[in-house]
Amino acid sequence: MAPMPSWRMASPHVVRPPLPDDPLAATGRPLRWGVVATGSIARTVSAQLRQLEDAELHAIASRDLDRARALAAERGAPVAYGDGARGSGVAQLAADPDVDVVYVATPHGHHHDVTVPLLEAGKHVLVEKAFTVNAAEAEALVALAAARGVFLMEAVWTRFLPAYVRALDVLVSGELGEVRWVQADLGFAAAADPRSRLWAPEDGGGALLDLGVYTFTWAHAALGMPASVQAVGHRSAQGVDAGHALTLTYPGGAVAQLLGSLEAHATRTATIAGSRGVLRTFAPLTHPEGFMVMTGDDRRREEVPHGPVPYAYMLREVTRCVQQGLGESPTMPLADTVATLRLFDAARAQLGVAYPNDRQA
Ligand SMILES: NC(=O)c1ccc[n+]([C@@H]2O[C@H](COP(=O)([O-])OP(=O)(O)OC[C@H]3O[C@@H](n4cnc5c(N)ncnc54)[C@H](OP(=O)(O)O)[C@@H]3O)[C@@H](O)[C@H]2O)c1
Repeated sequence: MAPMPSWRMASPHVVRPPLPDDPLAATGRPLRWGVVATGSIARTVSAQLRQLEDAELHAIASRDLDRARALAAERGAPVAYGDGARGSGVAQLAADPDVDVVYVATPHGHHHDVTVPLLEAGKHVLVEKAFTVNAAEAEALVALAAARGVFLMEAVWTRFLPAYVRALDVLVSGELGEVRWVQADLGFAAAADPRSRLWAPEDGGGALLDLGVYTFTWAHAALGMPASVQAVGHRSAQGVDAGHALTLTYPGGAVAQLLGSLEAHATRTATIAGSRGVLRTFAPLTHPEGFMVMTGDDRRREEVPHGPVPYAYMLREVTRCVQQGLGESPTMPLADTVATLRLFDAARAQLGVAYPNDRQA
């Protein structure tokens, strides 16, 4: 018998996260945060982070001190680090005793190298998705966090949002019956800027790592980890996947089809189909504010808003876990992160996409 693919080892079930009425309300002692990078998502998340009652935004680190200072001033953080010679201000941030938790928001091709010194210094770390470019890098970070006894999580914010949690409740209720297939698509026409992280192999570019994390989140919620993956797509001139289609198969015959594109727009929805009914998320599936449930002739529309600070649900989970001394989130466990990257490693091999930093860490 052929050896079982290693990504089947992870749990197929998602642990329902506590869903706070107010994700900004304190759950314990204040945590002092640092942020690495000053790009698009670093700006968004740092603005939402400072709204948590028990978060103090202490420092911003950048490859450029002026950029760090500018964002720190905008966000009211007292400290800025940025010294290219010492590497993105990360070494200084790691050495700062007034930082408890760090949010890493560099392109994924750099997540491993940025996160290692932070974990070595005993910081808890929230790493943007995709967690790393491959499973070997992820396993190395997981082992290091365990050795240092610190919290580590991939920033899959979808898993903590009210609509996702409510969809889990529908799945668990049995209303859809046995889930037989999942279909999810996510795409947009990205500017053909060769400097963009989306196209740069050294940044971990391509649709799979950028968008596949989200489409797979919905397949995983309904069906868990697959038994096999077949991937087709095509590569950009730089060699990253400009678009992909993944077919996942599951024990018992269920299938999932996931589409991701950096060249075309998409419905940006996920459909979960079972023997009794269908659930279809609103767009965008990254942070939907509800879904439709269709059973027989009945159609039900559930509005499940996340409010004006949607990243706060994920940041609340990190805060709660660190306050409680947990090494990982039960809802976004590190085993799921590693298993997903093993799946993506297999898909990427079929797509013929390799990265210059695609090493076995
Ligand atoms: N959760 C979400 O909703 C969400 C949304 C978008 C992106 N993301 C994820 O967040 C990460 C960043 O995405 P983004 O859209 O913010 O990218 P971005 O706008 O290109 O910003 C990335 C930042 O990382 C820093 N950086 C760039 N190259 C680096 C390098 N070689 N070494 C160290 N730092 C480097 C830069 O900041 P400095 O110049 O200050 O060093 C840059 O501004 C990606 O992993 C992406 O998948 C998540």
